[in-house]
Formats: sequence, structure tokens, C-alpha cells
Amino acid sequence: MLGSASKAFFHLLAQSRTLKKLATRVAMGTGSPSQPRRWGPRTPAGVVHRFVPGETVEDAIRAARVLEANGLTETFDLLGESVTTLAHADASTRDYLHVVRAIIEAGVERNISLKLTQLGLDVDHASAVDNLRKVLELAEPAGFFVRIDMESSKYTAVTLDIFETLWQQGSRQIGVVLQSDLYRSEDDLRRINALGARIRLVKGAYREPKSVAYQKKADVDAAYARMMKVLITDGHYPAIATHDPAMIDMARRWAEEHGVASDRFEFQMLYGIRRDLQVMLVESGYRVRIYLPFGRDWFPYFMRRLGEHPADVGFVLRGLVSEGR
Ligand code: FDA
Repeated sequence: MLGSASKAFFHLLAQSRTLKKLATRVAMGTGSPSQPRRWGPRTPAGVVHRFVPGETVEDAIRAARVLEANGLTETFDLLGESVTTLAHADASTRDYLHVVRAIIEAGVERNISLKLTQLGLDVDHASAVDNLRKVLELAEPAGFFVRIDMESSKYTAVTLDIFETLWQQGSRQIGVVLQSDLYRSEDDLRRINALGARIRLVKGAYREPKSVAYQKKADVDAAYARMMKVLITDGHYPAIATHDPAMIDMARRWAEEHGVASDRFEFQMLYGIRRDLQVMLVESGYRVRIYLPFGRDWFPYFMRRLGEHPADVGFVLRGLVSEGR
């Protein structure tokens, strides 16, 4: 449950650099980047595999082909965040350019998600914007849609600021994310929606203080419902990103009652979560896009998912025990 002790605990783990290094080494073997150990059912990464299809863009493209064959679409996310040197930010940018080229070559859906701290936002604001521009210069003419993920509240203002600047400068194939747990988000929604931009609505994956965010799940859900209704009737191809059956039912009912066709918005879910719901929605005629994360830097993403759904901790532990046999 949002705001619970388990969420706080997994967020602490997610931020631990030592644990991250250790987990990545154990899961991937101690291989060098040029010779990474492959994920297999007998490695701890076997359990990570349920949420992250692999280390390479080729792994992600294989997973994307399966999704597309089942009537789903995807957005590719090369995992990585909180880069601390300019050299690392440049390397992440080059990696993203490689991903864009690989997607073009593979002929799969041209849609990516990225984080500004992955492109160096913590190191130097201007360099992060330059890096994002480099990605857009390759991706936009090739018809990509580029979603800027939203990180913790420390980055909300600067992320929206960069997004709005790029929008004013003419970028139109970009979108942003708003988190219903933040008090400010309903105001942000009004402003960004007035631009005509595409918004992904989420509840928020980060542990936030009560000075900026609702602490009770009921309040986060109520804000989500309010924002979702505005987006469905007045948004610009919004993404309703949730696995919450109650929110999904509400979105479907609201759209039907207001005569909004099912191709005017899309549902989004994370890879490996509630596949039953994903398939059911596609079979009912809705558009569903799967957030497809891949790469070596899976640890913080994986920990956030465990914090949201502690029931999965049992799944992970069972996997580790059986793999240890
Ligand atoms: P919530 O956690 O409120 O749970 C409600 C119900 O959903 C549960 O009772 C259960 O039925 C179901 N459910 C939820 N998680 C489940 C799981 N792991 N397994 C099984 N059932 C589950 N966040 C952010 O801060 N910035 C971002 O950019 C993004 N981007 C993003 C993209 C996409 C496509 C999605 C789906 C989500 C994000 N998020 C995100 C994460 C988001 O903020 C949120 O943390 C998670 O989606 C969990 O919230 P839900 O609304 O899914 O369900």
C-alpha cells in the first residue's frame, strides 16, 4: 500500500549504492560490460526477469515482438537513473541513441521513455538538456514518441520546466508524466493540458514527505480519479497508467458515459504486472501500452516494484531459494 512501511523500506534499499552493486554483480555475474553473463533460470536474475526482460536492447525487442503479436504496444525504457558524472551522462546518451537505432532497424513500435537524471540532470542542467536534444534530434524525425518519466518530487519542477521549454521550442512528439500523490499535480495538469501535450497519469512511485504529497492511499486514489476524468474528457491522447482494477473500471465507465471513443486514450501497465488485465483490456477493444524496461541497471526499478506490491517479495524469495538448490 502506498505510504506504508514496506514502501519506505524498499525505497531505502533502492537508494543503497552498495546493495545495488552487489545485487547487479550477483545477478549478472562479475562479467565485464563487453561480456555480461546471460540471464538464465538458474541465476537470481531469473526472478528479476519477470519484470525486466533482459540486459540488452535485443532482449527488449524480442519481448516487444511478443507483446505486439498479442495486440499490445510498448514503450522501451533503458534502465538507469541518478548518473553522477558527465562522462556517465554522455555514455547513457550514446546508449539511448543506440537503442533508438536498434528500434528503427527492428521495425517495432517507435516509443521510448527516459529519465532526465539518466542524462545528467544531477550533474549539470544544461548538459542534461543538450543530451535530451541529441536523443530528440534522432528520434523525432524517425517518428518516435519520447516520454520523459517523472522522478521524485525533487525533480518535478525542473522536469516540467524542461518539458515546457522544449514544447515551446516546437517539440511535439514528447510527453510528460504527472503523479497524483503530489498536491501540485492538479495545477500542473491544467497548465500542461492547455498546451495540448500528452500526459501519462500515475499514482507516483517515490516515497514523498507530507509537505508535498498525500500520505493516505485513499487521497492518492481520489486525486487520481479526478485527474483521470479531466484527462479522458479534455486530454490529448492521455495514458491512464495503473494496474488498479478500480481505476481502470472507472476510466472505462467515464469514457463510455461521456462518449469518448476507446482510441482517444490508452491504458499503460508495467511489463510483467497484471498480464491478465492487459489481455482482458485488449480483448475488450482498448489500447494498452506496456512499459518495457531493460538493461543492467535494474536494481532501483525492481526495488520500487517490490515496495509497491509486497506480495511479490514471496515470489522473489521462492525464486531465489529454488535457484539456490
Ligand atoms: P496501486 O499500487 O495503487 O495498487 C492498486 C491495485 O493495483 C492493487 O491492489 C493490485 O490489484 C494492483 N497492482 C498494483 N501493483 C501490482 C503488482 N505489482 N502486481 C499485481 N497487482 C498490482 N511512477 C512515477 O513516479 N513516475 C513515472 O514516470 C512512472 N511511470 C509509470 C509508467 C507506467 C506505464 C506505469 C504502469 C506506472 C508508472 N509509474 C511511474 C509507477 C506508478 O506511479 C505506481 O507506482 C505503480 O503503477 C503502482 O500503482 P498502481 O496505480 O498500479 O496501483
